[in-house]
Amino acid sequence: MKIKDKTFKILISEKELQSKILAISKAINKDYKDKTPLFIGILNGSFMFVADILKNISLQCEISFIKLASYTEMTSSGSVKELLGLNENIFKRDIIILEDIIDSGKTISSVIEEFKLRGAESVEVATLLLKPDALKVEADIKYIGFEISNEFVVGYGLDYDGLGRNTKAIYQLK
Ligand code: IMP
Ligand code: MG
Repeated sequence: MKIKDKTFKILISEKELQSKILAISKAINKDYKDKTPLFIGILNGSFMFVADILKNISLQCEISFIKLASYTEMTSSGSVKELLGLNENIFKRDIIILEDIIDSGKTISSVIEEFKLRGAESVEVATLLLKPDALKVEADIKYIGFEISNEFVVGYGLDYDGLGRNTKAIYQLK
């Protein structure tokens, strides 16, 4: 598959993705029995993962989305992300964050921190992909689809320069 100047080869097939997603949904159904969790998808990359997870969730639940806006602070700390679009009251709620990929872990750990500050009852994360070799901060991730090597991937919601999100499988740089 070609996107702009780069060529990609298949890494995870549609069938592998769907069977892993079903397993994660089943685990969540079991772990949150008798609870009413609030799922929070992180846009844009998670939209397909969120849709496929939720199709297999049998719990009474809510779903919402947030977006992270990057802006550069004039400090040595570098870039800071602002959380946009969270309208639900998350005080005392059981939150399950749905993310496409965890790379350095900085995005997810700042989101977890923010939800805890706002008084969530519990905060857990389900990520489709994790790059263990890229992790820079400690992050406690309860549900992990696939651990992959530290290479750039695209498809099934993930993009290369805004392109390539619209595929049923995940591809890796060739
Ligand atoms: P982190 O804060 O470094 O963990 O970055 C996570 C975010 O970076 C994800 O939500 C993606 O948007 C993006 N990202 C990281 N690795 C990849 C990749 O291989 N392909 C596409 N997007 C990626
Ligand atoms: Mg993302």
